[in-house]
Amino acid sequence: MKKQYRSALAGAFLGIITAVALNAAQPNINMTSFGTLRDGRAAQLYTLTNSQGAKVAITNYGGIVVRIIVPDREGDLADVALGYNDVSGYVKDGSTYFGALIGRYGNRIAKGQFTLDGQAYKLATNNAPGDIPCALHGGNVGFDKVLWDATPLFDKDTPGLRLRYVSKDGEEGYPGNLDVTVTYWFSDSNELRIEYSATTDKATPVNLTNHSYFNLRGEGIGNILDHVLMLNASNYTPVDKGLIPTGQIAPVAGTPFDFTKPHAIGERIEEQNEQLEFGGGYDHNWVLDRKTGIIGKLRGSLQKAAEVYEPASGRVLEVLTEEPAVQFYCGNFLDGKNVGKSKVAYKKRTGFCLETQHYPDSPNQPSFPDTILRPGEKYETVTVYRFSTR
Ligand code: GLA
Repeated sequence: MKKQYRSALAGAFLGIITAVALNAAQPNINMTSFGTLRDGRAAQLYTLTNSQGAKVAITNYGGIVVRIIVPDREGDLADVALGYNDVSGYVKDGSTYFGALIGRYGNRIAKGQFTLDGQAYKLATNNAPGDIPCALHGGNVGFDKVLWDATPLFDKDTPGLRLRYVSKDGEEGYPGNLDVTVTYWFSDSNELRIEYSATTDKATPVNLTNHSYFNLRGEGIGNILDHVLMLNASNYTPVDKGLIPTGQIAPVAGTPFDFTKPHAIGERIEEQNEQLEFGGGYDHNWVLDRKTGIIGKLRGSLQKAAEVYEPASGRVLEVLTEEPAVQFYCGNFLDGKNVGKSKVAYKKRTGFCLETQHYPDSPNQPSFPDTILRPGEKYETVTVYRFSTR
């Protein structure tokens, strides 16, 4: 009896091994050329494959996440990230920030200026919603348009890519040499984990994020209005017509901004609402309901910020972050001029972003959580994009 039991166990065990051997790939990192920049420098593409055969491809140009290839509920793989097939696509585009690492300051700074420790700083005004100029996403040449040093690496069986960039004192008008490291990991459970860190030699604002656009049905396949969104946020920061926060932290209850319970993105997007009008749809900063507050000034614990479900494919995206807020932007400015990886033009609202962040314009808003990094301090923050199905 005892013996039989043992051999049944051994049989079951062997079954698992076989199943693993048949279905699973060896996690690996593959490097290929991604084309050359206008100045002749070469960009590379690093494809991280996990043991499930799911893949995330990242280029050292702008630290851009080029592909996220994950299964639907039938196990069929599709690329759920908007973007281009080579670096020239990203260079030509210049303004959608598909998949990119954003810095030194993600989101907007009013009038492209701020005062820090009594000194005034002037930034490029590279954006002007409602014809009101502001600084957006780090300036004319933000972290999305520079070549990062890349090192492929493994943590046990998890493939990763470490990127480093040193932003010079005065670059894009910001003070201090900022030494930035961003590490991407892609785990067997289809979690794309992004670890950001930075140090500086002068006080400077820092707000790093990733600007991936997702379409969980697959990039190039229609709009994202049927995707069902939940945001773990009872409040948001309303904006003026230049998309700069008014300073108010407003409850979402009773407004089209209430995603505390799941709603299709398109359900209320055409309602008469001044905030929706200013953003041309959703393009706002939601203040996350955190079980614990922000520990210190730059870091909290990893908590769930958002969940998106796409009914046709069954794909689910969960976003976890240590940041206090998330910019939910639903691709209102996409206008069909950008033709993506599968030769399909990305029309309005064919991708959405969940940019984890500190609040926009914090350097000018004393009541917002602090974004100033000082010498001797370490900026560290983590965000996870977790893919599954239902
Ligand atoms: C951010 C902003 C949007 C838009 C996009 C880039 O998400 O909030 O207003 O500028 O970047 O197109």
